[in-house]
Amino acid sequence: MVREWDPRTASSAEIASLLATLNAVLAADLPQDPPWREASLREYLAEVMPGERRISWIAQGEPTAPGDTGAVLGQVHVLLLGDIGVLEVLVHPSARRTGLGRDLVLRAARRVYQEGFRSIGVEVVGDTPAIGFYESLGFNREYVETRSVLDLTTVDWAELAGMATGISAGYQLEFFPGGPPDDLIEAYARAKAEVRDVDDGELRPSSYDPERLRDSLDTLHRRGMKPYIVLARHEQSGEVAGLTEVVVPAQHPTRADQYDTIVAQDHRGYGIDRAIKARMLLELRSAEPELIEVQTWNAQANEAMLKVNAELGYRPDRDWCEYSVDVAELVHRLDPPR
Ligand SMILES: CC(C)(COP(=O)(O)OP(=O)(O)OC[C@H]1O[C@@H](n2cnc3c(N)ncnc32)[C@H](O)[C@@H]1OP(=O)(O)O)[C@@H](O)C(=O)NCCC(=O)NCCS
Repeated sequence: MVREWDPRTASSAEIASLLATLNAVLAADLPQDPPWREASLREYLAEVMPGERRISWIAQGEPTAPGDTGAVLGQVHVLLLGDIGVLEVLVHPSARRTGLGRDLVLRAARRVYQEGFRSIGVEVVGDTPAIGFYESLGFNREYVETRSVLDLTTVDWAELAGMATGISAGYQLEFFPGGPPDDLIEAYARAKAEVRDVDDGELRPSSYDPERLRDSLDTLHRRGMKPYIVLARHEQSGEVAGLTEVVVPAQHPTRADQYDTIVAQDHRGYGIDRAIKARMLLELRSAEPELIEVQTWNAQANEAMLKVNAELGYRPDRDWCEYSVDVAELVHRLDPPR
């Protein structure tokens, strides 16, 4: 049975069952990824940026005992933002190839269509069944990034300390656990607006104006995700010359996510990218003792950043593909008018 589902009011048993399915999917498709934990999972699913909405449905199996609502065998979430719906679909490995994934996509697509949105986007992990699935539904591949993972147990910390200080004179590095302080938000947002040398997936838009940046930091905290920031400040002008952001999610605190890394145009060529990332890793080592890996996503064309990441010890892991489809076409394909 598939039904619309609200994480805010869901029972703890449903949240636990949804987590079990997510972890079964990870074990089947991405066995090197750490399993997720229940910490702040409800908030992770429920909280969104102001102006955005996430709608969810779950598929449940037959109840096995009185009062039991049945295991969560599949789930779909669609985040409505701007003019697109961003989809996430998961089907338990034991329930695959029965048409459930397709049914879940149809539920979400109908709603996205009714709400007047034009397209649906989805991030699809290379070398998993999801590629064949979305292609069979008519989704088109728009963009491919490479995910790379850094294993912190392999890091030469002395060498890294050298990288963190190997920056031209005239720049100062600063570390901010929790996000930039309020008096730096404007300069921070300016740096992000000026250059979009984004280290991150296209479906996770960055925040370029101060208000949106505040909202985005606030949303991260509400979802149980802790941001860390290292800034390179140009001493003479006080401007933010470079920044790097890493987020440690309560749901998988052993593996952090690299978000944006930006070096402003006028400040390129001074070793800022390498230095801020190295400093970040040194800081995380003491701030997050549980942390053992950091993952990052890069455009394959971004050779400069890939080179720095390789020097830091990141190893390419998987293709991370962005697919999209026109909503009306999808609904007609899945649910042809009779
Ligand atoms: C992708 C996924 C949702 C598909 O769910 P499903 O219920 O098995 O899909 P369906 O049964 O509705 O399949 C519909 C069609 O998709 C295609 N398809 C599905 N799985 C496929 C596979 N492994 N290879 C090729 N095509 C596939 C087929 O054309 C299939 O139709 P058919 O079975 O009649 O041939 C499921 O495999 C899944 O949850 N994967 C993990 C997704 C994810 O986000 N992972 C990231 C975190 S790990």
